[in-house]
Amino acid sequence: MKAFLILTVLLIGGFSLFIYSGIYNVAASEPHLDAVEWIMETTRDRSVRRHADKAPGPPEREEANFREGFRHYDEMCVICHSAPGIEQSEISKGQNPEPPDLGEEVLKWSREELFWIVKNGLKMTGMPAFGLSHSDREIGDIVGFITRLPDISPQEYAGLREEMGRENSVGHSH
Ligand code: HEC
Repeated sequence: MKAFLILTVLLIGGFSLFIYSGIYNVAASEPHLDAVEWIMETTRDRSVRRHADKAPGPPEREEANFREGFRHYDEMCVICHSAPGIEQSEISKGQNPEPPDLGEEVLKWSREELFWIVKNGLKMTGMPAFGLSHSDREIGDIVGFITRLPDISPQEYAGLREEMGRENSVGHSH
């Protein structure tokens, strides 16, 4: 019992010392330790699956409004996640963790999970919670759009921008 108490005090003391010493480098330009990265990713994946499972999914609609979803995506998401045929932005390159290309990542998640992520955001990653500024219906449209991303070609994406009268340079780095 006594040994256990001493060990606990030592562990807490050591941990506090580590934190107060400032040894851990919070620079975004430095990669995390493998162990820290594993903790963050595993916590994120497990947490999303558990919470999305209990939360209401996107509102029932015959079909999410694809163009509305595109409009929101092009305004709010491209700066970090890019899009077919769009070069990764300078902001995105400097983020840690780097926002992934969603064309590949969306296949990993169910519609309900994507809805939960976009609505609630992800702590400690820089992924914002869009539920504070957007209705469930709008987020449902965004999710409808991003699930189609793997099949959208650069030409189609540029075409959508043209239809909306958008400049094709937005999101480009130089
Ligand atoms: C300020 C930058 C930023 C913006 C803007 C942003 N995201 Fe993210 N997003 C991130 C980061 C960073 C992650 C987490 C990456 C990680 O955990 O490795 C992320 C993760 C995600 C994920 C989970 C993918 C995965 O497997 O990691 C989805 C889905 C997503 N974002 C969708 C969106 C959508 C849709 C929008 C626009 C409505 C958006 N994001 C806007 C930075 C951003």
